[in-house]
Amino acid sequence: MDKYVSIHLDPSSAKPLYLQICDGVADLIEKGKLPYGEKLPSIRQMASFFNVNAVTVVNAYKQLEAQGYVEARVGSGTYVSFAANVKDFDEFTTADDAAPLPREARSVLESAALPRRFDFAGASISPEYFPVKDFKDVVNEVLDRDGGYALEYQESSGYHPLRESIADYMKTQHDLLVPFEEVQIVSGAQQGIDILAKAFLNYGDVVYVEAPTYPGAVNAFRSRGAHIVEIEMEGDGIDLEDLEKKLAKNKPKLLYTMPVFQNPTGNSYSMKKKQELIALAERHGFYIIEDDHISDLYYRQKPTMLKAIDDADRVFYIKSFSKLFLPGLRLAFLWVPKAYSDKIALAKYSSDISSSGLFQRALDLFLRKGLWPKHLRRLRKVFYEKWQKTHDALAEQMPGELKYNRPEGGHFFWLQLPRGFYSMNLYQVAMKKGVFIMPGNLFYMSQRPSEGFRLSFAQISARDIDEGIQKLSESIKLFLQNNYTIIQGPNDRPLL
Ligand SMILES: Cc1ncc(COP(=O)(O)O)c(C=O)c1O
Repeated sequence: MDKYVSIHLDPSSAKPLYLQICDGVADLIEKGKLPYGEKLPSIRQMASFFNVNAVTVVNAYKQLEAQGYVEARVGSGTYVSFAANVKDFDEFTTADDAAPLPREARSVLESAALPRRFDFAGASISPEYFPVKDFKDVVNEVLDRDGGYALEYQESSGYHPLRESIADYMKTQHDLLVPFEEVQIVSGAQQGIDILAKAFLNYGDVVYVEAPTYPGAVNAFRSRGAHIVEIEMEGDGIDLEDLEKKLAKNKPKLLYTMPVFQNPTGNSYSMKKKQELIALAERHGFYIIEDDHISDLYYRQKPTMLKAIDDADRVFYIKSFSKLFLPGLRLAFLWVPKAYSDKIALAKYSSDISSSGLFQRALDLFLRKGLWPKHLRRLRKVFYEKWQKTHDALAEQMPGELKYNRPEGGHFFWLQLPRGFYSMNLYQVAMKKGVFIMPGNLFYMSQRPSEGFRLSFAQISARDIDEGIQKLSESIKLFLQNNYTIIQGPNDRPLL
């Protein structure tokens, strides 16, 4: 218990004792005094050491877990989590595309000896595909038409004509009848997730997420003090057996999912799993957040959204205009059941009053002029060619021990190294050859070591794909042959 003597509790402070213990332990972890994998003392030991009630320590440990510092292992105890010690990767953990490369990778990039760069990490499409000319025309038209009115505050729920044109777009393109009153404009899907978290979660509420998942969502839930539970993701959607087991123990308020071309795996749910998920939400009384980040980029059949089969009104649907349009506009929309529209509009108001009026008007005009479907047709064509190139290069060049999927849309492949070979280590080897991938641990709540990694062809140009995959394949062969182990973790698990 020596390490804990530096924590001094002040019973007269307004800060509750459990938060004082939580902050003290978090401080020890941040300073590296409690390394990854170290087991925290038992509840009884801690309670007697600090002379507090056992419930106080239980609450402190729960808070540490919600903030990602520790992970509870059933029947074993509470351990310092991997995420808590991986500072170089902090920049990945919100919007993973906003800062695609961690500090350490950037310093390698800046070095003169750098080989050519092959970016399979970035997850937003490269600016060369942005419809800049069409966008400039609509912005100019809006300013000529509306003048200063375009730059006033807007209604919190959004610019009325844009809400209508989105409802119209959902009807014509997706066959979905969305009452325009149920469309809430938000400043990006990240804000949409945050607003739902703010409106629905209280401290200690349970949220289920897919494992692996998009870390920006986990951060939003954690910031509300939610207790996050991971459910394994399979090739055809969430593992329903795992889900039902966990539902029997600990019911969630919300479940966050990306049913189509999931980030990071690219996998989509089967229709059967979508139906079962809705039925489970109804039976157990939880709500689902459906994050539709990229369903429009399909190469075969148009995918069916979860919201399309949501007869029970259990789904909050979010659609972003970042992934396939212009991320800098910060525009997305929520489709919320009418019963919650006011609550959500209020949460939006207290976040940023309203999203940009100029950009909402420009997007409205872009949709009304039919430029959005035209833009999507072009993207589908270009990205299908890149998909095909990546797919063929993987089939030709990857060593047989490597497994990977073949999503029918989006721009991710999920590759799986043999058991015990962690992608965080491969990341280091590939980076030295100028190849950047996204190691799988970044997509787990505890950032636990993972054999999987995400390969995105969003940023790389079509002509570089073959050479990039060849370099990646060389890195993988080198990595597997040399069994790279840079630092040993607990239980002899290789880490960084
Ligand atoms: C799955 C997913 N959802 C939401 C977001 C955030 O999107 P936006 O730019 O619309 O806030 C991202 C960005 O990386 C994402 O990958």
